[in-house]
Amino acid sequence: MFEAFTYRDRELFCEEVPLRTLAERFGTPLYVYSANAMRARYRALIDAFAPDPPLVCYAIKANHNLAVIRTLALLGAGADVVSGGELMRARRAGVAAEKIVFAGVGKTEGEIRTAILEGILQFNVESAGELERIAAIARALGRTAPIALRVNPNVAASTHDKIATGRKDDKFGIPIESAPALFEHAASLPGLSLEGLHLHIGSQIFDLDSFARAYERAVALVRELHARGIRLRRLDLGGGLGVPYADEAPFDLAGYAARVRALTRGLGLRLLLEPGRFLVAEAGVLLCSVIELKQTPTRRFLILDAGMNALMRPALYGARHALWPVRAPRADEELVSVDVVGPICESSDLFGRDYVLPRLAPGALVAFRTAGAYGMVMASDYNSRPSPAEVLVDGSAVALVRARREPDAQMAGEHIPDWLVRHE
Ligand code: LLP
Repeated sequence: MFEAFTYRDRELFCEEVPLRTLAERFGTPLYVYSANAMRARYRALIDAFAPDPPLVCYAIKANHNLAVIRTLALLGAGADVVSGGELMRARRAGVAAEKIVFAGVGKTEGEIRTAILEGILQFNVESAGELERIAAIARALGRTAPIALRVNPNVAASTHDKIATGRKDDKFGIPIESAPALFEHAASLPGLSLEGLHLHIGSQIFDLDSFARAYERAVALVRELHARGIRLRRLDLGGGLGVPYADEAPFDLAGYAARVRALTRGLGLRLLLEPGRFLVAEAGVLLCSVIELKQTPTRRFLILDAGMNALMRPALYGARHALWPVRAPRADEELVSVDVVGPICESSDLFGRDYVLPRLAPGALVAFRTAGAYGMVMASDYNSRPSPAEVLVDGSAVALVRARREPDAQMAGEHIPDWLVRHE
């Protein structure tokens, strides 16, 4: 596997570029992405399915930077979008409209209209009400909207509760039991062309049996529909492929592809996949500086210049990202155990306890691994700290692909009303 982040003479590099030089040039906190790592993941996925690769619609919610989308689009990737903003990003980055799928439980009228006019590949429809709305908007525009129905297969994937989406009590999809009737209705609704079936059972899943259980139900439904004379053309299997954050074994891509092939053989359907994390997570790090060391009677804290404002996953899901010093310790150097925190004023701003690191002084650089997915996209202005900037590395080429948002820019859309003059 292509390793983008490696030590050379104890210095951590991204491809051909020392991270230290990026911190000097662009400051910290800084997201650093490896273009070649993304390409390698994309190609591994395509190769696993050779000679019949699926259409890979990159779930741009994982990392919506235009340069990241473009990197994958240039290889032939489509996009999975969940809002008008993401649709705009995909198009601006150069993704062809006919490779875009539009998912999400709350598509607004304006978003639906725009997507129809753009000519996207399909809407992944999440409810009976949405089906009617899309049909009505398409008719009003004098167009036909291509759709797939997203089914909820009632499968509890083994992953974090907050990112499982395929259980019957989750808000996503159409209950699989009531799906056949809705497919029949959709097939007859003017303004729509029924193209396919979609499902997505959650994120960060390693267990192939979870996928297989859900896919089996979807395939059984496709067969039932075909028997009733409702022919589909596409099967969108969603994303969710897991990535290692610590010492987990990598995702069994060959096993996944083999299961998918076996389950879908002979259906005559075009396959779509919507991976997000798998393509970009390991291609990124969050580079931070140590601000302070703080020893209390009970704990030793390492305080960084990035916190939950920059990388929310630990606070939100209890996720633990490996943390590497940019300067590796010598073999005989003493290591210490520290609780790693950000500067944000709440106790949930904790990356994790008991990280084992060399002794680091203020100004030292460290990098959170596996931060290319759901990192910058979930960052916020909380506490009005400057946002991280983003850099793309391609071999020895380096580009700033998103400037840091300083507090001045953060305040740009705010306004103090004239009538707030005095208070008595
Ligand atoms: N397709 C649909 C319909 C989705 O809802 C998602 C993710 C994906 C594809 C891509 O899933 P992936 O391949 O990246 O697992 N913020 C969370 C993850 C939320 C995932 C939401 N949906 C985290 O940081 O773990």
